[in-house]
Amino acid sequence: MKLANRLSAIKPSPTLSLSAKAKALVAQGVDVVSFAAGEPDFDTPDFIKQAAIDALKQGFTKYTPTSGIQELREAICAKFERENHLKFAPDQVLVTVGAKQAIYNTFQALLNEGDEVVIIAPYWVSYPDMVQLAGGKPVFVETREEDGFAPDPEAIRRALSPRTKALILNSPSNPSGAVFSRAALEGIAQAVRGHDCLVLSDDIYEKLLYQGEFLNIGNVAPDLLPRLVVINGMSKAFSMTGWRMGYVAGPKWLTSGMQMIQDQSTSNAASFAQKAAVAALKGPPDIFVPMVEEYRARRDMVVDALNSMEGVRCRSPEGAFYVLPNVSGLFGRSYKGTPVTGSIQMSEILLNDFRIAAVPGAPFGAEGHIRLSFATSREQLRKGLERLREFTASVR
Ligand SMILES: Cc1ncc(COP(=O)(O)O)c(C=O)c1O
Repeated sequence: MKLANRLSAIKPSPTLSLSAKAKALVAQGVDVVSFAAGEPDFDTPDFIKQAAIDALKQGFTKYTPTSGIQELREAICAKFERENHLKFAPDQVLVTVGAKQAIYNTFQALLNEGDEVVIIAPYWVSYPDMVQLAGGKPVFVETREEDGFAPDPEAIRRALSPRTKALILNSPSNPSGAVFSRAALEGIAQAVRGHDCLVLSDDIYEKLLYQGEFLNIGNVAPDLLPRLVVINGMSKAFSMTGWRMGYVAGPKWLTSGMQMIQDQSTSNAASFAQKAAVAALKGPPDIFVPMVEEYRARRDMVVDALNSMEGVRCRSPEGAFYVLPNVSGLFGRSYKGTPVTGSIQMSEILLNDFRIAAVPGAPFGAEGHIRLSFATSREQLRKGLERLREFTASVR
């Protein structure tokens, strides 16, 4: 018996597999410092947990509508209007099992065999695989570190074709932490005008912003609203990764199709987690402040340390909790007599010899880089950075 052909198009998530490998080493008693986690190290705020406990105690434990409870869909619409100045009706919103399912279902509902999705590199590892699982073809637009990883509108124009069904944006970005400026978003909007494709905006890191104000492309280009799909969720902003609570808003024809996919797969996201999400979205607007300040301090510490290492160069990210240092200065040199050849091999050396879990840039479309998450304590960060310094100093 063999697995289905569709599996041959995709690869295991390198972040999940590296995290699992690091966790297995820790379980064996090995002192690994993990820079791999894509999740906040803060706990879910108590008032959110309490809302779930109350829901459980009140017996709110049954199936809900697949699209989510009305109360939550209304709270999501109110959030969009209050915080993002975007207007959606509750019947344009679908509550999903994490933002991941929202993106997956978008492609499942949208793509036919060979349809194209434009993805800006560096990109979140799961986008190309999700496109391929739906029979689609990812088309990549390269960006440059010196441009803050913002795409050249001309390059987007070249990537668009009659088969393009969507362009996906992710700002703040995983893995670069880059935030697209108003001018960059205007350039992107200009490039997609006149082209019949959707614009998917994955805003999952919107609250983790170290300067300026969060902008969705719909804010700078209201004419794109009829084809805008916004993806978001509770994981990163509210430290709720394990709750699996995401949502999407977009044109009703699309969200209805997505709901059909969800009807026949997972049905609704967990009932009591939906009640917790209502509490989170209606909660105090300033709960993010201490978390963002802590991340900012860690970011500065990590960027300074990286820039003082031989062969390493790191731009300071404007958002999210990742840095994407350029380590290509170490390539071609030798470690213990073996040439350092690329980010995947470097990550293996770092884990095996220096007990650091750092994700290689290659699967994010960022060869020449590694991705380090600073969603871990300052003490762990210091220890890991010292080990990384030992590695860079031992490369000749
Ligand atoms: C860019 C991006 N989008 C979406 C997700 C999915 O988040 P979740 O499914 O936990 O809501 C992640 C998680 O790492 C991410 O980095």
